Amino acid sequence: MITRRQSLMMAGAGLVAGCATMPPRPEGPSLNALAARSGRRFGSAVGAGRPGTLTASFDNRAYRRLLEWECGVLVHENELKWYALRPDASTFTYEPADRIASFAAERGMGLRGHTLIWHHPQWFPAWTSSHDYGARPAAEVERLVVEHIDAIVDRYGMIDSWDVINEAVDADTGELRVTPFSERMGGPEAVMDLAFRRTRERAPMAQLVYNDYMSWEAGHEAHQNGVLRLLEGFRARGVPVDALGVQSHIGSGNSDNSVGFDTARETNWRRFLDEVVGMGYDLVITEFDVHDKNLPADFAQRDAAVAELGRRYLDLMLSYPQMGDILCWGLSDSHTWLQGRWYREDGLPKRPTPYDAQYRAKPLRQAIADALIAAPPRRSA
Ligand code: XIL
Repeated sequence: MITRRQSLMMAGAGLVAGCATMPPRPEGPSLNALAARSGRRFGSAVGAGRPGTLTASFDNRAYRRLLEWECGVLVHENELKWYALRPDASTFTYEPADRIASFAAERGMGLRGHTLIWHHPQWFPAWTSSHDYGARPAAEVERLVVEHIDAIVDRYGMIDSWDVINEAVDADTGELRVTPFSERMGGPEAVMDLAFRRTRERAPMAQLVYNDYMSWEAGHEAHQNGVLRLLEGFRARGVPVDALGVQSHIGSGNSDNSVGFDTARETNWRRFLDEVVGMGYDLVITEFDVHDKNLPADFAQRDAAVAELGRRYLDLMLSYPQMGDILCWGLSDSHTWLQGRWYREDGLPKRPTPYDAQYRAKPLRQAIADALIAAPPRRSA
């Protein structure tokens, strides 16, 4: 159900009005071409949701043009999640995901896989709680997970990097989240270890990623520590995990009101990343956007602040040779998940992506380009 408020926001974001004319392409190389200079790919999420909604960027011709201009790799915004793909225990709804995969394949773009298990009870489909798990529930969970991984990984064999597990660590406590699967399988580790091992078997060449949203912001210490414990556990148990996916939903209004990135926080964040790479993990920026919830209303001021924070963040991340691909969670303000939640007090649409709702490049696009140009080379795999 789309509320009146949401439809007003969507109109303000240019979603309903659409855009008849496409602004000119930014001069110079694409973001993906710039990323390639240091051995990386640039890309974005794209959604094949219900036409006319925020999650339907793929439906929009102008948005698809942006993807063609800028991206070397795409990721499904929602279409591979259990709730989108599996309306019940025996049905798979592949069509929306297929459309995006074909688009990428036809253009020679790469594809990331998001996500085999979103290890967060809120995002499990309701049927996973009411399902008849029979006399041996652990075996039935194992059957469902293996069936899922085999089906999806085989169907989308072009996916070369998988978010095998998403968001397993409770951000408040640092403990592992309990899900309808984990409580029947003897704990979250059992589910995650199975998922990584099975994915490695089915896609031996793919990069396997644990993906989460821990950040440097005040209040994220428990989350960071929980992720480090989880990553240590993977290593201790010999679980095949190659990289940490740092979602990178940065900016104001996610978990606190901070828009800054001061030295103390930067030091703390580097310490976290140092520990991650010290365990032998690579890094991926999987869902970059810069939230502007609490920034000034004025577009020029807001866009400048978003660009400045984005640049600073990307410079830091790109200083790690273990840092690989960089994907935005949406390329245009016309289709960003942030438009549909955590509304600004002034009711104005948000501007957290590199292109505005009329598909004009914003200062954030230049900031990303500059960070990519300045990036030291990626460590060769
Ligand atoms: C979001 C989508 O953008 C929304 O359309 C959906 O309603 C909820 O999920 N972290 C993730 C992504 O790992 O899957 C989330 O995507 C954003 C936060």
